[in-house]
Amino acid sequence: MFPSSEIYEGLSAVYDYGPWGSELKKNIRDSWWNEMTRMHDNIVGIDAAIFMHPTTWKASGHVDNFSDPMIDNKDSKKRYRVDHLIETHADELAKEGRNDEADALIAQMEKLLANNDFAGLKDLIEVNKIACSVSDTVNWTDVRQFNLMFSTQLGSVTEEANEIYLRPETAQGIFVNFLNVQKTARLKIPFGIAQVGKAFRNEIVARQFIFRMREFEQMEMQFFIRPGSQKEWYEYWKQERMNWHLSLGFPGTKFRFHDHTKLAHYADAAVDIEYEFPIGWKEVEGIHSRTDFDLANHQKFSGKKMQYFDSELNQSYVPYVIETSIGLDRMFLLALCNSYEEEKWTKEDGKEDSRVVLRLPPKIAPIKLAVLPLLKKDGLPEIARGIMKDCRDDFYCFYEEKDAIGRRYRRMDAIGTPFCVTIDHQTKEDQTVTIRYRDNMEQERISAKQVSEIVKEKMK
Ligand code: GAP
Repeated sequence: MFPSSEIYEGLSAVYDYGPWGSELKKNIRDSWWNEMTRMHDNIVGIDAAIFMHPTTWKASGHVDNFSDPMIDNKDSKKRYRVDHLIETHADELAKEGRNDEADALIAQMEKLLANNDFAGLKDLIEVNKIACSVSDTVNWTDVRQFNLMFSTQLGSVTEEANEIYLRPETAQGIFVNFLNVQKTARLKIPFGIAQVGKAFRNEIVARQFIFRMREFEQMEMQFFIRPGSQKEWYEYWKQERMNWHLSLGFPGTKFRFHDHTKLAHYADAAVDIEYEFPIGWKEVEGIHSRTDFDLANHQKFSGKKMQYFDSELNQSYVPYVIETSIGLDRMFLLALCNSYEEEKWTKEDGKEDSRVVLRLPPKIAPIKLAVLPLLKKDGLPEIARGIMKDCRDDFYCFYEEKDAIGRRYRRMDAIGTPFCVTIDHQTKEDQTVTIRYRDNMEQERISAKQVSEIVKEKMK
């Protein structure tokens, strides 16, 4: 990954994905998409526009409510998100072994946030002597709300132009299309609509690499249900989504559920799936019971009926919704954090050796197989090219003939390639190749004809 427009010193909290990064991101996206749409008979996908009618954001509550409480330090002029400032202080207390104080501070903060008690939050910061990391003073402004939506102008002449927003979540593209999709795909409740796409938020405090970005990608699914059945479906989707994370091959001990105490303006229940990042337990995905908040508001603001006729009940109603919402970039960060390792060992001759290895689950690794002729001559490249031809229809293969074989293996380890095959002179005699496994560096001889089958089997 590279900072966006790096030659101009980059743009804060905006990043570009390079060749292997975009491949890894695509594999995570495909896994989610297939899980949602192919593995569930009653979920379909859509691809809605980023720009939407501005009233959408009035109806969704984002114009009025999509803001974070912020506080400025009067000496350094540095602006902080109030919850981040207090959480950082609580982390420091915990590091000093003052866990009870840290827990009490977080509990107080959550209560004040839930009540939108801004004066109380300022008091909490001052009473705990939480200082600015730049000026080291406790000279704070009042706590104020800042809207996170980016806006731009639609139309060429300023006087005629309308202010529109870059969507801060993909969900609204699903809600406004709810009846179009239900009717054209002839769906019966319960059913879901899934979407992957860019979202934009003017995060005031964007930090920690791609954890909090200003332009990012979301993978969201809205599941439309009968009113009253939300508890049951909420539990169902909590488990389904956790199962997906585990099915990718990530360890269960690194995940946990975290119930929200401060609910977003649209939710009647919400839980995060958290992962234990090197920076602590953090949200990767949210599961929200959104009631009929969005559809009912779109009905009100558009004047168009957003109702579904339930033929079994012989009744029309505005459906309730369970949402699953995950950040693709954050999932990418999770995959990197979970997989990166600097390994050291002592060789048989007593010398130290080391490597950087990215133990990505094979299913999402950018390159599945590296095909490496030992030498650039004696017909070995031609055999290697033949193996590439056999395999490249089925998965991403990479051909490389430059440098010593050990260095090529190390390069593949560092980008997470789970399998390498090497073609040597023995291949010409008995049509076998060496397959080398990234994780334990073990090697074995297999038939050149079996490479594709064996790699496919190991990727399951
Ligand atoms: N439609 C509901 C919604 O947008 P959210 O909790 O605000 O809910 C869902 O966002 C997910 O999107 C988060 O769990 C996170 O993975 C990702 N996300 C949110 N803001 C992000 C940001 N600034 N940068 C990267 N990912 C972000």
